[in-house]
Amino acid sequence: MLVFGTRPEAIKMCPLVSELRSRPSEFEALVVTTGQHKEMLEQVLRVFGVEPDYDLSIMKKGQTLFDVTGRVLEKVKPILEAERPDIVLVHGDTTTSFAAALACFYLGIRIGHVEAGLRTHDMKSPWPEEFNRQAVDLVSDLYFAPTEVSKQNLLAEGKSEKSIWVTGNTGIDALRTTIAPDYSSPDLDWANGSRLILLTAHRRENLGAPMHSMFRAIRRVMEEHPDTKAIYPIHMNPVVRSAAHAELDDFERLRIVEPLEVFDFHNYMAKSHLILTDSGGIQEEAPSLGKPVLVMRDTTERPEGVASGTLKLVGTSEESIYKEFSLLLSSEKAYRAMSQSSNPYGDGFASKRIADALTESLLP
Ligand code: UD1
Ligand code: UDP
Repeated sequence: MLVFGTRPEAIKMCPLVSELRSRPSEFEALVVTTGQHKEMLEQVLRVFGVEPDYDLSIMKKGQTLFDVTGRVLEKVKPILEAERPDIVLVHGDTTTSFAAALACFYLGIRIGHVEAGLRTHDMKSPWPEEFNRQAVDLVSDLYFAPTEVSKQNLLAEGKSEKSIWVTGNTGIDALRTTIAPDYSSPDLDWANGSRLILLTAHRRENLGAPMHSMFRAIRRVMEEHPDTKAIYPIHMNPVVRSAAHAELDDFERLRIVEPLEVFDFHNYMAKSHLILTDSGGIQEEAPSLGKPVLVMRDTTERPEGVASGTLKLVGTSEESIYKEFSLLLSSEKAYRAMSQSSNPYGDGFASKRIADALTESLLP
């Protein structure tokens, strides 16, 4: 049974659902969506053609962590009791994953953690994700670590080597099928002839003052570089929306658009000059595409992308973002250093490795 509920989990779990369902003699794969996200989750399920077997439909506007944790725990319990799966797979670091793993722990059901072992070792950043991922790892039985670095994090915490598989990240599996060299769209036509900046922002710890600073810095830099245009697929969180509209609405070279379907978003990434984001998943996808990413956060659990040169942590203050974004637009040398493609997060076959590992550990 796979349990997930937000956009990024769906993007990274749907390739695994397809892999498991393509091997019916080995697996019966049930999909439970919590609906922590609604529209943004449905967009992904549609693209991958995945119909959930159960949908907990928990989302409510302005939901708190208490709402998400409590509602997932309560609603997943009868499903776990009725189905008694051999294993439940959860993904990454969301509150859906934490609550589903806790429910399995209470019921004595085995847990496999996909994208296990990422760490910042700072409980405040990203918040609450660092807690979620550590808590899931605490109660998991099988660990699917995307990289050797994440495996080492798990070993350092005393997890048994036999329970860890280095698989690559399943998000890169999706990238194999989405990039179309002849892709175009009205937004991209609008930006044609300018350097395209792609922007996303949503982290809980950045809501409020940091997010206003981020947007102000981006606008200041773009005002000094008339050859740039930005596309900003905005998260559905109303707090994000009000900050973005307050800072960016009357700036005509920056277009705020609704969340893009993953197929479109990957192709926008491929056509962009550089990316500004606080997202986790985008930090994994960009190195494969050779796109520089300025990560608007104080910490990252993805040091592989920093080591490969594609990612740079720029914090959330207006001055630091202004400085680093300006440098990347002005210095060809700085840009070139960050735009080499590499694959620290995998070769696109992570789902197959996870399915093989499941067969190895679950079948007699
Ligand atoms: C969640 C995850 C975060 C992940 C992010 C991906 C937690 C604590 N956070 O954060 O790790 O990086 O998803 O985007 O698990 N909303 C809608 N429709 C949607 C989705 C969201 O209206 O389809 C609005 C709702 O008002 C909701 C708000 O966005 O209250 C925030 O959603 P929520 O899932 O609580 O947190 P995220 O910030 O999206
Ligand atoms: N993404 C998308 N549409 C968008 C913005 C992002 O499909 O408009 C994809 C992106 O390619 C990546 C994932 O969503 O795979 C990242 O999700 P998000 O930034 O919401 O969450 P995080 O990765 O930070 O948990």
